[in-house]
Amino acid sequence: MKLIRTEDYTEMSLEAGKIIVEKIRSNPAITLGMATGSTPKGTYDYLIHDHKSNGTSYREVKTVNLDEYIGLPAEDSNSYHYFMRENLFQHLEISEDLTHIPNGTAPDLKLECQRYEQLIKDLGGVDLQILGIGQNGHIGFNEPGTPFSSRTHIVTLAQDTREANSRFFNSINEVPTHAITMGIATILESKEILLLISGENKAEALLKFMNGEISEDFPASALKNHHQVTVIADRAACKFI
Ligand code: PGA
Repeated sequence: MKLIRTEDYTEMSLEAGKIIVEKIRSNPAITLGMATGSTPKGTYDYLIHDHKSNGTSYREVKTVNLDEYIGLPAEDSNSYHYFMRENLFQHLEISEDLTHIPNGTAPDLKLECQRYEQLIKDLGGVDLQILGIGQNGHIGFNEPGTPFSSRTHIVTLAQDTREANSRFFNSINEVPTHAITMGIATILESKEILLLISGENKAEALLKFMNGEISEDFPASALKNHHQVTVIADRAACKFI
């Protein structure tokens, strides 16, 4: 595992963006695994800036997102479909057919999980997965206790995750209780992983990740079993390491 320490969020985003652009340039038909949330937003801003100023092409790039809330349609401003469209896709001239996000309103959610797993297989797997981390160590929406052998599945969101994400909603009651997420085994099959960590509120999670044991109680620790993980963390997140 490689750890890149950066001064702040801006530098973290820049470092991550540069790595992603380099990968796209060497493999224009790359399959990228995407994350949502505050952490990757600056990285996405960098990709947009680079696309507009350097012309990096997304014509053949394919994307698969980690997760989506159950019950929120794509037009809902809190859905991850909406987040990706607003914060990245619409600025990149990327074909909608090549961007994939689990459908949290599918009539048969179990079937949707199977479809998503098969889709990732059909794409030849994820070449580079971008990940954030929850304060409780979750990756995607795999909350503590999720088996490392899990594939794309339906999860009940932990109360602390719903509280953390309520900042985007009018009240916590509006935060969905369930989500669909790539499983930990699905994530670990990515050829390469970029884990982004920013801010003092993630410092304990980073400490646990670096120094704690590998345990299903802390989902991100599964990444220690992967051989191509780069962690980019800013100074605030590195407070305890
Ligand atoms: P955040 O979420 O980037 O909004 O902090 C990360 C996560 O919960 O995985």
